Amino acid sequence: MLKSEFQKIYDDIKLLMEKALKNSDHPYRTFSLASLDKKVPKLRTVVLREFSFENSFFDCHSDIRSPKVIEFKKNNKFSALFYSSEKKIQLRFNGKVEIFHNNSMTKERWKSITLSSKRCYMGPFNPSDQLEEYHPNIPENVKFENPSKKDSDKGYENFVVIRCHFDELDYLKLKYSGHLRCKLIFENENINAVWLAP
Ligand SMILES: Cc1cc2nc3c(=O)[nH]c(=O)nc-3n(C[C@H](O)[C@H](O)[C@H](O)COP(=O)(O)O)c2cc1C
Repeated sequence: MLKSEFQKIYDDIKLLMEKALKNSDHPYRTFSLASLDKKVPKLRTVVLREFSFENSFFDCHSDIRSPKVIEFKKNNKFSALFYSSEKKIQLRFNGKVEIFHNNSMTKERWKSITLSSKRCYMGPFNPSDQLEEYHPNIPENVKFENPSKKDSDKGYENFVVIRCHFDELDYLKLKYSGHLRCKLIFENENINAVWLAP
């Protein structure tokens, strides 16, 4: 059971994430996701696709051939950063990633993706590969129109859900009268919270 001062912060974050999942313009709809490539941190922007406080995870989608997936298979630790300049709230999550590929969950998720977005998984090249010359990495026939459903399903074999299971959330809200900063710690079913110096 969280103290009421922390419960309010938890409820605020929950609401913000629900809004981000519904509204593609929301500042938390995209976030920076960090992996480690040997000892070098690697960051990239990804789109928030699912969020659950109850089960302490959030998801993004990606291509199994991309360096981030290869990096997470070697070291599953992640850090993720969200910021809203309107709310002046920064959220920094830490935890471990789980990659889902070609299972019942990814099959359901694939159904919810638009044909236009499915093009991103149909590229002939591995994402981030060096190219001899410019190529958009989508097939020529879908450059100006959506693929047929049958055609788009070729992308499914490259499609993965990256699930970020978080165990810590560092919350920072900027305020003239004094910034607010706390850490929420997720352990099994329990959540603890402590104040941090901003
Ligand atoms: C606004 C925005 C949203 C993006 N969303 C995703 C995403 O959800 N999944 C993804 O794999 N790449 C996404 N990208 C591309 C990544 O930032 C990155 O360039 C690409 O995935 C290659 O990353 P990697 O080489 O680290 O694997 C997005 C880029 C931008 C600018």
